[in-house]
Amino acid sequence: MAETPRGAHAILDGLTEAQREAVTHLAGPLLIIAGAGTGKTTVITRRIAHLIATRQARPSEVLALTFTDKAAAEMEERVDQLVPYGYADVQIATFHAFGDRLIKENALELGLTPDFRVLTRAEQVIFVRDHLFEFPSSTSGPSVIPLDTSRR
Ligand SMILES: Nc1ncnc2c1ncn2[C@@H]1O[C@H](COP(=O)(O)OP(=O)(O)O)[C@@H](O)[C@H]1O
Ligand SMILES: [Mg+2]
Repeated sequence: MAETPRGAHAILDGLTEAQREAVTHLAGPLLIIAGAGTGKTTVITRRIAHLIATRQARPSEVLALTFTDKAAAEMEERVDQLVPYGYADVQIATFHAFGDRLIKENALELGLTPDFRVLTRAEQVIFVRDHLFEFPSSTSGPSVIPLDTSRR
């Protein structure tokens, strides 16, 4: 087995056994369920640093998504402190911002003009009300789900 690069051990310092297990988890998805203030963000940010320090992933191969801008900013700040270089290549964003960027980058392939924008909550309601009977009634047709963008 390859020697553990320097810094990888420091990333695990002070963690509980359960946190350490989550940070070093190898293959496959991992679901963490824990209450507020129990160290979930600590686990995620240290896991990002650990994946990079042990060369399991390049910074550009890491994508971290959160629900709120506040959580994304907090995660960015903590990853910035843990990953001395290459942090800029780690993608940390809200689901909304990431989805928005993905659609913007692929707008032409999706048949959208690049100047499209996401409707506000109020605009969505008006749009659905105005076009309700134009939507396909068949269940096999595309579903239209007004998105909750209230937390953007
Ligand atoms: N193993 C630990 N030992 C000491 N402090 C910890 C440990 N894990 C987390 N903390 C601290 O507890 C606080 C809450 O952790 P955080 O990761 O933000 O929790 P969560 O995301 O679950 O709300 C932070 O100040 C963090 O530094
Ligand atoms: Mg948190």
